[in-house]
Amino acid sequence: MRRPLVAGNWKLHKTVAESVALAEELLHLLGEVREVDILVAPTFVALDAVARVLRGTRLAVAAQNLFWEPAGAYTGEVSAPLLTAVGCSAVILGHSERRQHFGDSEAQISRRVQAALASGLTPIVCVGETLAERRAGRTAAIIGQQLEGTLGALTPSELRSIVIAYEPVWAIGTGVSAGPAQAQEVHALIRAWVRARAPEVSAALRLLYGGSVKASNSAALLGEPDIDGALVGGASLDAREFAAIVRSGVPASCTQP
Ligand code: 13P
Repeated sequence: MRRPLVAGNWKLHKTVAESVALAEELLHLLGEVREVDILVAPTFVALDAVARVLRGTRLAVAAQNLFWEPAGAYTGEVSAPLLTAVGCSAVILGHSERRQHFGDSEAQISRRVQAALASGLTPIVCVGETLAERRAGRTAAIIGQQLEGTLGALTPSELRSIVIAYEPVWAIGTGVSAGPAQAQEVHALIRAWVRARAPEVSAALRLLYGGSVKASNSAALLGEPDIDGALVGGASLDAREFAAIVRSGVPASCTQP
């Protein structure tokens, strides 16, 4: 019922020329994939050029953050209307690297989510616990707190327009992914949180897993009932590896002759 979505978060990597080359390679490898939604998130400076390469194709473009005001005296910021104007359809918000290095709070992320929705961008909202929080048995409480803080103010119809990504902080960039069952357990919690607020929305809402996803583990992760796709960091910088991850999301019924 839920279409898989595989998103590549390029983080702070690649020049504009390198980003264009990667987008062209991905288009070549994945342009015909119909069963999985595909999205790439280059740096702000490469968005326009990458969007030009991918315009009119099945590959969508997302930003990695935005500021909630549409315009004004906000040196160094980029707003939702600017992102839609260059062809973005989505935006990653609340990534743990934003929370950790740039002090993004739940309240700020919530404002960013509202601004994205107001401009018609799909927010991909990230939540996830640290290793210390997991070891202390606080995973469910932390995830609940992050969901409440970032999404608690949304109406059911707004919730319908978002994607949630579970990215355990201890799995990001470490090479150690959460196990499929471990990730599924948290995804089920997230879906239950949405169901409690918007029962009519929860079954259709897409939940992505992120944290050391690669071609060798993606099929097992995406095979879990509440894992509807992946948010891929490091492995999304390699076109062949990312293409293999996307293809692992194609439902088995579509790959049989
Ligand atoms: P890695 O795939 O490099 O672990 O990064 C995950 C991530 O942070 C995606 O947003």
